[in-house]
Formats: sequence, C-alpha cells, structure tokens
Amino acid sequence: MSIKPLVILPDPLLRQISKPVESFDADLRKFSADMLDTMYDAPGIGLAAIQIGTPLQMLVIDLAKEDEPKAPQVYINPKVLWSSDERNVYEEGCLSIPDYYAEVERPKQVRVSYLDIDGKAQEVDADGLLATCLQHEIDHLNGVLFIDYISRLKREMVVKKFKKLAKDRPPSRLAV
Ligand code: NI
Repeated sequence: MSIKPLVILPDPLLRQISKPVESFDADLRKFSADMLDTMYDAPGIGLAAIQIGTPLQMLVIDLAKEDEPKAPQVYINPKVLWSSDERNVYEEGCLSIPDYYAEVERPKQVRVSYLDIDGKAQEVDADGLLATCLQHEIDHLNGVLFIDYISRLKREMVVKKFKKLAKDRPPSRLAV
C-alpha cells in the first residue's frame, strides 16, 4: 500500500476517458488499497483512479465521519442506471482542484451498477451525499469535473488560477 501523487488541474489527464477494468487480480486489489491510502491521506471522501494517473473505471468512497470506523467502498466499471428527477445541491470540492468549493446541483438519487473488487456484479440505490459522491466520481471516469457545472466565468477564473500555480510545480504524474 502506498500514497500516490494526485493529478492536479489543469493536467490534461483529468480530461481523459477511463477504460473498463478487465482483470480482477492481486494487482487490482493492491491498486484499490493505494487509491484508498491516497484518499485517506489527502484527506478526501472519494477518489477516481485517473486522479492518481491511471485511466481505469474505478473509484473509491468512504463517507464515515471522523469518529466512526472506516467504511471503504470500491466501485469498478460503474454505470448510472437511473437518476431521480428530484435534485439537490451540495457544496462540492475535488482533490484535483484543491481548496476550491462550489455548489453543484445534481439528481438527489441514483441507481448504479458496478463490479466489486472480486469482479462480482452489484447494484446500489444511493441517496443524498452518496448519490452526489458517486456522480462526482463517475464524472471523473468520463473526463468531467465539477467545475464543468458552474458558470463559465467562474470556471475560467479557477482554471486560470490553477494554470498559474502549475507553472511553479512539476507535472504531477512525474512527482515521486
Ligand atoms: Ni473530484
């Protein structure tokens, strides 16, 4: 298990489309542990594989509160099967866009199919924070970021700020 460097805006990797996972083996298990370690270290409540530079359709989530035991969840090749007409708003952030938060409106409930770490088909009915988190992370697999839902003016300001910051920083995927 190890903590991996995070891919940060405006790294073009974040716009890459991730590929389905095909092999469910020890390497995948190790990779999911690395994703969780990286997410806990950040700290964050969700992480997609592309955020540590691997374009695989895989994401991890843990919504346990600080005083609760860890509750890691791993979702592989997830697909949104249904989303509610009812919507709600959360203030979202992203480990790839540090220290920036904005309100995003999304469907309040979603039904998602996915494979677990053993490759077994699963389905989840998610509501509230889990629904938002799943949609945010599944967006990452399609190269979509939460700033794509805010106004163009705000988005351009955020991207500009991160481009400026990136000049003083080596590309994240080369970091060790
Ligand atoms: Ni994110």
